[in-house]
Amino acid sequence: MTSQAQTLLLFGATGDLSRRMLLPSLCALHTEGLVAEDLRIVGTARSEMTDGEFRNFARDALEKFLPAERRGGMADFMARLHYQQLDVTTPEGYKELAKKAGPGEDLAIFLSTAPGLFKPTIEGLAAAGLAGEGARISLEKPLGTDLASSCEINDAVASAFPESRIFRIDHYLGKETVQNLLALRFANLMFEPLWRSQYIDHVQITVAETVGLESRVEYYDGSGALRDMVQNHMLQLLALVAMEPPSSFTANAVRDEKVKVLRALRPISADETVTGQYRGGASNGQIVPGYDEELGRDSDTETFVALKAHVDNWRWRGVPFYLRTGKRLHERVTEIVVQFKQVPHSIFPGARMKANKLLIGIQPEENISFTLMAKVPGIDQEGMTLRSVPLDIAMPDAFKGTHHRIAYERLLLDLIDGDQTLFVRRDEVEAQWQWIDAIRETWAKEGVLPKPYASGSWGPSAAIALAERDGVSWHE
Ligand code: BG6
Repeated sequence: MTSQAQTLLLFGATGDLSRRMLLPSLCALHTEGLVAEDLRIVGTARSEMTDGEFRNFARDALEKFLPAERRGGMADFMARLHYQQLDVTTPEGYKELAKKAGPGEDLAIFLSTAPGLFKPTIEGLAAAGLAGEGARISLEKPLGTDLASSCEINDAVASAFPESRIFRIDHYLGKETVQNLLALRFANLMFEPLWRSQYIDHVQITVAETVGLESRVEYYDGSGALRDMVQNHMLQLLALVAMEPPSSFTANAVRDEKVKVLRALRPISADETVTGQYRGGASNGQIVPGYDEELGRDSDTETFVALKAHVDNWRWRGVPFYLRTGKRLHERVTEIVVQFKQVPHSIFPGARMKANKLLIGIQPEENISFTLMAKVPGIDQEGMTLRSVPLDIAMPDAFKGTHHRIAYERLLLDLIDGDQTLFVRRDEVEAQWQWIDAIRETWAKEGVLPKPYASGSWGPSAAIALAERDGVSWHE
């Protein structure tokens, strides 16, 4: 399926994701002329609104969330927007929606509603003839809370849409720098031969945030860091780092390789995990309350998790993957560190050798840095003095004139175009859940409770110890 959709149906059109990400992304795509002139966008949600009111809502969102220089086409963009009120749980409304969606054979549907509404929505769409051959559907996370509930959602979608028309979102795959990881690995000769246990000591993946609960109290407390961040974004990053070279950059070739990694994840024991929950402290220069204070009650939900994972295959035998993520941490940073091994023999007696390190900064800085050993200039009588120096590529400097994109721009465009490469396949999601469920079972069995950590810190000290036991320090 490669034809561009003529209509985009946006469920949850008045929600937070739509306001902050989806409408701004669509307007940016429109302004750059990346979507067909006749693409119509039909928003739907529970509240009563006219087309005009929806356009006003969209205008406010764009003014707030899209930089002025990317809003050039805003006035014309408004003409693409339409609205239809719908209670997704009552079958009657779908006829009206179908009318509003128009006769367009090629339909892209985006569900950004609570997952509990996915099933009735899909039934309603199918009954109204909106799940035909030209229709594709995109689902936002959370896709379930464990393997069983995820299978239920996947089965419900599969009853109306074949896998080739299901687009599961992991917005990290829409980030330029995450895609750049593929370019780095597979468009350069020098890394691939070294990308294995013979030369790599360990890998670190950090996704640190400074925000706390924001406005998602109930969702987050029922989820926790493991399910909110590791199950999806972090495992996708791990899969991209660890996968074998796919034969092409196409949906099945890439996803076939990722799923092999996810299935090779070794079940981990409780002592290879650390969980934490933030207490009050200072974050981003402000005094902030603790998680329980924000929540208004006590809770055992983890807002931090650190794990030592292993990929059990030939390439990664004996190479730990240290993962950590948390809210209210010291700074906002997403990065991957590939720590190479020491040279097998030093010919520089007395030199303090440091092994090469590749740092891939994903956000907020987009940069790639590779540390090399170099000779310190000067004449030494005692032998050469060496020092580790970084070879830095700051992406914004290397690619001047390009702007920072919202991850959803890429994903919405691919949905409209029908390209699944950057979407998650069912077998991937299920392999992710299987691994995560086993961790949660271990925690429950062993009575693991989150350790407190101060807001603005790097998480509980046990997370530092997790790596240091192996002689590894987290990159900070
Ligand atoms: C979401 C999580 O999937 O990703 C949030 O539900 C988290 O809790 C967010 O804050 C982080 O995304 P980004 O793009 O800001 O790193």
